[in-house]
Amino acid sequence: MKIMCLLGSPRPKGNTVAIAERFISTAQSLGAETEMVSLNKLSYRGCQACLTCKTKLDKCVLKDDLEKVLDSVRQADVLVIASPIYYGELTSQMKAFIDRTYSFLLPDYLTNPNPSRLSPGKQLVFILTQGQPDEKMFADVFPRYDFFFKWYGYQQSHLIRGCGLNDKDAASKREDLMQLAEKTAQQIMR
Ligand SMILES: Cc1cc2nc3c(=O)[nH]c(=O)nc-3n(C[C@H](O)[C@H](O)[C@H](O)COP(=O)(O)O)c2cc1C
Repeated sequence: MKIMCLLGSPRPKGNTVAIAERFISTAQSLGAETEMVSLNKLSYRGCQACLTCKTKLDKCVLKDDLEKVLDSVRQADVLVIASPIYYGELTSQMKAFIDRTYSFLLPDYLTNPNPSRLSPGKQLVFILTQGQPDEKMFADVFPRYDFFFKWYGYQQSHLIRGCGLNDKDAASKREDLMQLAEKTAQQIMR
């Protein structure tokens, strides 16, 4: 089982990283092959809408640090998207990555019942953190992206969501979140 974990926070030791690390270390202890990438350390652009991935190539034409990341995501059985909420959305680092996954769709994706270039059976894990304690706030983020990742073939998805995390080290003190991270990893590795 290959797990690719993308970190969307610029904080190297913040809340999303704390939850992601617990998820990854649990999966590793159960035999998973894992890779963690901090998007903030990479240099890349968002989708340029050149449509080369729909006309000439079966992948994104851009040659930047996301090329290797997109290849690894294609190879992985599980994709972990870990991001804080910034202004009611994923961070810009994560959003630019997601726009580049447009290259995962076949040229006829609008009419094809199997629109994805990815192999079937992959799983998606979303780790979302926010300062706002009200769970109803920003609850729209996960379903919105889950909808698009279902197109890619991520039929099974999991959500680990931490609300009210204002201090940098708040998540590591939240035993319920740490346990959910462990439980989710166990479920995936079953
Ligand atoms: C620029 C910026 C924008 C933010 N916007 C929101 C927001 O819209 N809603 C919210 O609940 N928290 C917001 N937050 C708080 C973060 O989501 C929260 O502190 C999160 O736990 C940070 O995760 P990290 O430690 O992994 O970076 C924002 C933080 C920053 C720095």
